[in-house]
Amino acid sequence: MVLKRKNVKTAAENWSPSSWRNFPIQQQPDYLDKKKLSEVEKTLAGFPALVTPSECRQLESQLAKVAEGKAFLLQGGDCAESFVEFNQTNLRAYFRVMLQMTVALMFGAGKPVVKVGRVAGQFAKPRSAGTEVIDGKELPSYRGDMVNGMDFNAEARVANPENMVRAYHQSTSTLNYIRALANGGFAGLKNINRWNQDFISGSPQGKRFQDLVSRINDSLAFMKACGIDPEAMQQLKQASFFISHEALLMPYEEAFTRKDEKTSEYFDGSAHMLWIGDRTRKLGEAHIEFFRGIANPIGMKVGPSMQPDDLLKIIETLNPQNIPGRLTLISRMGAPKVKELLPPLVRAVKKSGYSVVWSCDPMHGNTIKSPNGYKTRPFNDILSEVRNFFAVHKAEGTYAGGVHFEMTGQDVTECVGGAQAISELQLKDRYHTHCDPRLNASQSLELAFLISEELKKTS
Ligand code: PEP
Ligand code: CO
Repeated sequence: MVLKRKNVKTAAENWSPSSWRNFPIQQQPDYLDKKKLSEVEKTLAGFPALVTPSECRQLESQLAKVAEGKAFLLQGGDCAESFVEFNQTNLRAYFRVMLQMTVALMFGAGKPVVKVGRVAGQFAKPRSAGTEVIDGKELPSYRGDMVNGMDFNAEARVANPENMVRAYHQSTSTLNYIRALANGGFAGLKNINRWNQDFISGSPQGKRFQDLVSRINDSLAFMKACGIDPEAMQQLKQASFFISHEALLMPYEEAFTRKDEKTSEYFDGSAHMLWIGDRTRKLGEAHIEFFRGIANPIGMKVGPSMQPDDLLKIIETLNPQNIPGRLTLISRMGAPKVKELLPPLVRAVKKSGYSVVWSCDPMHGNTIKSPNGYKTRPFNDILSEVRNFFAVHKAEGTYAGGVHFEMTGQDVTECVGGAQAISELQLKDRYHTHCDPRLNASQSLELAFLISEELKKTS
């Protein structure tokens, strides 16, 4: 059966921005002050959205190109943004490494790279348990700065609705700065020499990037000699960059979900793209209910417990009109399980005729606890999950469309391995994450180069 896209998008039936409230829900904080919560919800509902419907549609059409195999998706950023790590230096470093990775991937894929940040709203975290026990003391788990504080004391762990307001304001200034970098010249290829970050410029990754820069500069000079002015080309002058986060904390998402007057569709204006986490993707529950009605491009994590039949039912619920670019499936199986668990899912989707983007999150299935107590991820396992993901798609005749990373532009020591050979003993040196371990700038670029080689083989 091959489904055809209908020409007119129709609204989801029996849906409203608040219809999720009639369904069982997972992973929400227990707000004690309900009055405060409802005041904050009202305040948020009056704030300007961060993004517009037309930008969301642009992303959807770029993702439709990915679904067709004509572009590649790079989605990445912090596991969890935080209030204390918010500063210009970190944001600039993050944006630079995303650009560097983009160039590395474009060279391998020979295709445009769609850039989507886990940023400007990625503050709420699902947890494996509702409470945390340390030395016999039990407190509510930390659920991200949008919800409560990380410190292990009763006061910090109280879910405070005001945190949503602070997270919103931080997201707006984050997005403002990123837009300035993306559109104000910095992201233009002319400035590519400036992207090499200080602390990686002398490393093997930095040198490799410098080689790429020389080749690009030669090509630009050649274009100029041919009479084509690279400066006049919009594509080379700025970068389109989109934002995304896990839509987990429902009062926040509902508050930004508004009707597009032009088309009567509802968009969640908190980000261009939202995704559903692996713990909240059950049919018949609140998150799926919310997602089926928003017109943004959406993602869904697909972990080891997903069964082909359930996956098809969810796809049918989330994208009944089979709109290309609407749904990105982000597989996160764990390196050794990909070859066994991914093929039946890929096959089922292919057979159904539904258009999806397949992307690979090689982070969340590969988290381990180091003997000295740090949560970490071995670089080789991350790479191996990506390689297995590519191998499966090659064998199934489907397109490996993108990657999804937890990464930072900073020089942190959170994931072990890579060319820098970060050891378990070094984890304590610069372990700053507010949740899961991230690739640092050098590891991110190294991975992009290695994926670029895979892409070259398959394209
Ligand atoms: C995440 O992306 O930060 C996350 C929690 O992932 P998952 O839902 O796949 O576990
Ligand atoms: Co994470």
